[in-house]
Amino acid sequence: MKNLACLFSLSEIVLLTVLLFESTQPSVLRRDENGDLIDQTCKQTPYSDLCVSSLKSNPQSSNTDLKGLALVMVNNVLANATETLNYIEGLIKQTTDQQLEQALAFCAELYIPVVKYSLPEAADAVSHGRFGFANYGISDAGNEAVTCEKKFSGSAKSPLTDRNKFVQKLSDVAAAILDQLLKG
Ligand SMILES: *[C@@H]1O[C@H](CO)[C@@H](O)[C@H](O)[C@H]1NC(C)=O
Repeated sequence: MKNLACLFSLSEIVLLTVLLFESTQPSVLRRDENGDLIDQTCKQTPYSDLCVSSLKSNPQSSNTDLKGLALVMVNNVLANATETLNYIEGLIKQTTDQQLEQALAFCAELYIPVVKYSLPEAADAVSHGRFGFANYGISDAGNEAVTCEKKFSGSAKSPLTDRNKFVQKLSDVAAAILDQLLKG
């Protein structure tokens, strides 16, 4: 009888601990749930590993829905494109090679409207549920990254290859998530 009482209180303690854990640590539990949503969503994009790592590195991906993930992804593209533009502007200041400088200036002019308008407008469109419109801004970002990279196919070797690729791939991933929202 004594043992049974012990067992009861033990299970009560376990139950209490679980309840307490759930109420104080909701983000930890929901992050696991959202791991499934992230995996499932990313599987339907062309770069699922990049998609998963990119979404999971942002705490805003936990505890959100597909639309929330799309928004995180668009903002990741924006962060990446912004960083690329800053990098280009830094290189322009440093370079003494005129041909390289010209190509870099060309790229800066492509990235400026992407960073200032296309991607912020796309993020705004996602927030308002206008996924088709958001797709325009996103594909613009991807296209400009590709166009920028092509500008270097002369003697001036591209110092932006990795960065352009990331912007292009992240854009493709964001567009694929928006497609899921459009179909859903
Ligand atoms: C750009 O994307 C790549 C790949 O996800 C990542 O490694 C890098 O940290 C990102 N840069 C920024 C500024 O978000």
